[in-house]
Amino acid sequence: MSLFRLDASIRVEGSQSRALGDLVEAEWTSAHPGAEVVRRHVGTEPIPATAWGTAVGAAYTPEPDRSSEQVEAVELARAEVDRLADADALLFAVPLYNYGVSQHFKTWVDLVITDRRMASGVTPITAGKPAVLATVQGGSYAAGTPREGWNHATSWMRRILEDVWELDLRVVSREFTLVGVNPAMDRFTDAAAELRTKAEAEAREHGRSLSRRHAEAA
Ligand SMILES: Cc1cc2nc3c(=O)[nH]c(=O)nc-3n(C[C@H](O)[C@H](O)[C@H](O)COP(=O)(O)O)c2cc1C
Repeated sequence: MSLFRLDASIRVEGSQSRALGDLVEAEWTSAHPGAEVVRRHVGTEPIPATAWGTAVGAAYTPEPDRSSEQVEAVELARAEVDRLADADALLFAVPLYNYGVSQHFKTWVDLVITDRRMASGVTPITAGKPAVLATVQGGSYAAGTPREGWNHATSWMRRILEDVWELDLRVVSREFTLVGVNPAMDRFTDAAAELRTKAEAEAREHGRSLSRRHAEAA
């Protein structure tokens, strides 16, 4: 049994997305003691920004004519997809940055899709695997808030993970992680505490459901 875990936070200390992901992982690990967890820290060990374009170029170049950079980019994509193929369950912990998706997560997704096992038109290697997306936002984008609709990350991540990669996905989201960090947000302290408690409970539940959903799919 193996869990693939990707973290996209650019920090390690104090990372709230990692903390939420840890709750999911702990449930999986307690159901599968000693099971392997394969980790990708794309926020701190990013895929080179040029890899995707190079891998796309390789697809249009006959194999014998590929440059060493193209061969390397194709190999990089293959290694990433091998990890997904080998995983029984998947966990993605990804923060909101600048109202959009983490560039490191996007770069990784783009590279993965260059591999023929994940390309459009085929059933992806990830189809039907249980997965959790744990995402955090510094502010709030709830209905009726001034920035409703400004979170452009979660819907895109859902689209890729759930619809394109056909994962059996659960999403847990924790807003207001900047409350307690940014004094201008102090008036949201109670609301933030409530959202945190709710998200943590949901993360645990989604973590437990990974094993359940994996057993059901087998
Ligand atoms: C460069 C940068 C940009 C950010 N942009 C946003 C943003 O657009 N909206 C938001 O709600 N929070 C934003 N945040 C706050 C993060 O989403 C929040 O701090 C989150 O907890 C970061 O994830 P981490 O705790 O796992 O590191 C930003 C943080 C950083 C460092």
